[in-house]
Amino acid sequence: MGNLHKNMIQSKYSLLFFLFMHLQLIGSGAAAQVVTSRGTHGNYLTIQLGSALGAVFGIFVARGVSGAHLNPVYSLSLCVLGRHPWKKLPLYSLSHLVGAFLGAATVYLQYYDAIQTFSGGELLVAGPNATAGIFCSYPADHLSFWGGLVDQVVATALFLLCCVALEDQRNGPLPDGLHPVLVGALILTMGVSMGSNCGFPLNPARDLGPRLFTFVAGWGEEVFKAGGGWWWVPIVAPFVGGLLGTVTYELLIEAHHQTTPQSPQQETILGSGFKGLNNTYSRTKANEILM
Ligand SMILES: *[C@@H]1O[C@H](CO)[C@@H](O)[C@H](O)[C@H]1NC(C)=O
Repeated sequence: MGNLHKNMIQSKYSLLFFLFMHLQLIGSGAAAQVVTSRGTHGNYLTIQLGSALGAVFGIFVARGVSGAHLNPVYSLSLCVLGRHPWKKLPLYSLSHLVGAFLGAATVYLQYYDAIQTFSGGELLVAGPNATAGIFCSYPADHLSFWGGLVDQVVATALFLLCCVALEDQRNGPLPDGLHPVLVGALILTMGVSMGSNCGFPLNPARDLGPRLFTFVAGWGEEVFKAGGGWWWVPIVAPFVGGLLGTVTYELLIEAHHQTTPQSPQQETILGSGFKGLNNTYSRTKANEILM
């Protein structure tokens, strides 16, 4: 099978998984349910649970297809670390974007009646009848531009640092099936601690794809103007934060693994199981992570 063909199939997979199972569908679905029911069918916490559990099941579904990352920030970090080929990055990012766009379209279709009834047929970005926030991030009224930038850099740095730590088999090997659950727990952690400024977007594709959808679906150019032209912050800041988090982990933890001399005695104590979890293994695992 040609490389191009294989790449296309892989990106098709990640697109499909992103479309049907990922945060957009379940996370936005959770938000749509809360907003359009005016809080009678959920609250902030149910939205966070939806996002976290959506990620758990998205990862369980997609993890069989190696390399199907679901966050361009994660893909970029792996490229920078030399664990993923740069040439795949554009196609991956594009499929994430298209998948998130279609995920948003699916949520709109499913909640069409509810959204129309909720707002009296008007598709609004701000005010008590706003529905654009179902699909992508908008800053809270109190949030300044710099505050938003800091919020996103800090949140994504922490997120990626934890993602990379979960991947690092030498930092305490995890049972394979526990992995998606822990990523979900991480997302819930972020949601309950860093969600009130701008809803912790963390994923540029997940933010821009749905924003483009709302732009063409009738919310109009206000989706780009709102919050003083906020739209690019959840795209740029996560890349900065993600690299910061990854590099921090590499320098503080991973580099430490590599320079710690392993005495033969230690190897005997830990047995062959430990030797099996070598660098190559943890690198391969890193390439399979789906966030
Ligand atoms: C919000 O939508 C309702 C219809 O669900 C409408 O009666 C109400 O006037 C709208 N409020 C504002 C502020 O637009």
